[in-house]
Amino acid sequence: MSYSQYKNEHREILDKIANKKLHDYILSNLQSSLSSIGFSNEFVDYFVNNFSELNFEQFYSKFDEEIKKVYDIGFFQKIVPDYFSKQVIPHIPESNKILDLGCGTGILIHTLAKEQKFQELIGIDINEYPEWKQFINPKVTFKIIKEREFDNFLKKTQPDNIILTWTLHHMEYDEQVRYLTDIFKTMKKGSRIVILEDSYSEKLLPIMKFARNRTNSCEFQIW
Ligand SMILES: C[S@@+](CC[C@H](N)C(=O)[O-])C[C@H]1O[C@@H](n2cnc3c(N)ncnc32)[C@H](O)[C@@H]1O
Repeated sequence: MSYSQYKNEHREILDKIANKKLHDYILSNLQSSLSSIGFSNEFVDYFVNNFSELNFEQFYSKFDEEIKKVYDIGFFQKIVPDYFSKQVIPHIPESNKILDLGCGTGILIHTLAKEQKFQELIGIDINEYPEWKQFINPKVTFKIIKEREFDNFLKKTQPDNIILTWTLHHMEYDEQVRYLTDIFKTMKKGSRIVILEDSYSEKLLPIMKFARNRTNSCEFQIW
């Protein structure tokens, strides 16, 4: 596995959390979240106890197999689809055309394609994923759409409903506002935008404001 990207990100995180209280808080969160997605006690203890001085070469040579198994297989093929089925799909109304904005590899679209209540599924992202080519289904299209193309794309595509799962926190605040404004302007009356977010951010408040400023043309749901 190539770990150089993670090594750099890890260094950036350490620089940002020099404050001891914050550092301890993050470690206690890591401890519970890593266990909850299926990592072994040995993995969690090693990672948390060596967090500040992690030797990436040793860490990956010791746990490469476990990371692949838990993260790629357990998390993305089991935990995430189960979560979408229970927590996200019930909120999406029966639709002819669904847009998954920031679809990533397409896990949600895979799950939606099995449901009878959706006819056409379009996943867009600013990056292309190899998984797009492996998932062939007549109901499904994946496309790269950059921000500058989004407004036109949306007007042309006219989806009935839009879903964003774990996408907004990848955008700067101004970018979030631009996307939500375009969506709000373009969506048909009665459309729904379903947003799943779990990242803490001081920038989340304006999203709540969007939720409260309901108009009769588009519904924003937050839970
Ligand atoms: C954490 S992943 C979530 C992927 C997928 N929605 C899921 O739930 O598995 C975030 C995705 O948002 C995409 N993304 C970030 N900014 C975006 C933008 N401006 N437009 C579309 N996709 C974006 C990233 O490329 C990445 O694939």
